[in-house]
Amino acid sequence: MRPFPIARVRREFPALAQSPNGRPRVFMDNPAGTQLPRRVIDAISNAMVGAASNYGGFFENSRNAEAIHARAHGAMADFVNARSPDEIVVAQSMTALTLHVSRSLGRRWAPGDEIIVTRMDHEGNVSPWLLLAEDLDLVVKWLPFNLDTWRIEPEDLRTLLGPRTRLLALNAASNLTGSINDVAALAALARSAGALTYVDAVQLAPHRPIDVQALGCDFLVCSSYKYFGPHLGVLWGRRQLLDELTAYKVRCASDEPPWKWETGTPQTELLAGLAACVDYHDWLGREVSDADSRRTRIEAAYHAATDHEAGLATRLIDGILAIPGTTVHGITDPDQVAGRVPTVSMTHARMSPPQVAQRLARQGVCVWSGHNYALEAVRHLGIDEATGVLRIGLVHYNTGEEVDATLAALERALT
Ligand SMILES: Cc1ncc(COP(=O)(O)O)c(C=O)c1O
Repeated sequence: MRPFPIARVRREFPALAQSPNGRPRVFMDNPAGTQLPRRVIDAISNAMVGAASNYGGFFENSRNAEAIHARAHGAMADFVNARSPDEIVVAQSMTALTLHVSRSLGRRWAPGDEIIVTRMDHEGNVSPWLLLAEDLDLVVKWLPFNLDTWRIEPEDLRTLLGPRTRLLALNAASNLTGSINDVAALAALARSAGALTYVDAVQLAPHRPIDVQALGCDFLVCSSYKYFGPHLGVLWGRRQLLDELTAYKVRCASDEPPWKWETGTPQTELLAGLAACVDYHDWLGREVSDADSRRTRIEAAYHAATDHEAGLATRLIDGILAIPGTTVHGITDPDQVAGRVPTVSMTHARMSPPQVAQRLARQGVCVWSGHNYALEAVRHLGIDEATGVLRIGLVHYNTGEEVDATLAALERALT
């Protein structure tokens, strides 16, 4: 593996060169959305010139639009290691996809059936299931995360599973604490009880390669604007389920996946951006390895990025802990850094997260504050949900200098 090409990576992202008033802007708000490589921006605008036509026409721009749809689905199939592009469904957002698929799954379930949601998940993987439970009289069981390990532990899941469990909805990584769950082990337990597993991988996808075949889940969702792409949600579903389930669609739309799940006119320009975002990961894989397929280059890109991010995360966490009055809500032990993504949430004894976030913004450091829609997680941690946490989230285009600048700005903000 070659050294991480941070200078070349940063040159790919026009937004990183912005320095309003002569002060570089430091993007540490990445868990809320990342900046875009030039190739994604260009692909979107090119599609608006050469493919802004509907599908099924007898002319070139219509065929271009269809080709973009196929390219985006093929690229995302490699990105999550799906068996086929037909298992990929693209829509407006992860939340919209989950609301849609939950309705379809609910048609198979009866009053008294049980579903499991977690105290760790973003509302996008909680509220759709709570709404469904309300409509169908399902029993909701709450799976906590362990306050020592910061993860969901298999023994806690085991106690909730039973003959009427229909679904386990859980995240692969938390958007608040950053901890990573052992999805493969948890999905295997759910499967042994006859339940389906619906995985929210929105916060894992920017930091680890996703392999739906290895995870053994039934559905997995992610959002491309969190991993350098446009504002779209992407769902992978087990082919048999995508075939069998009834989709909420108009009568004349196709009955075949993915079309039956993507009813309405596709956002072709954003699909072009989605394909280009996978091209970006592929490019990074070429920069760091000699891997000889798109999938293996994507994996190589992630392995290099994970190493780079781990160093930054440790530097950030150590720096925060050295500031008096701070608490980090998540794994802080450098030896455990592989168990988390570099999303670091903290509180301060005296100053509220929104206050600190504003002071950081004035210094050119972009971060997030609040509960970040991880409503149950802040409640489970006993944090005031009105103010939540200060969330500082890195991705692989960040640098050690930016971490130091963030820490210096944080010290100034807290004094
Ligand atoms: C873990 C997690 N799940 C789901 C979502 C919602 O994704 P979308 O905006 O695509 O609906 C987010 C957004 O921040 C998230 O962090």
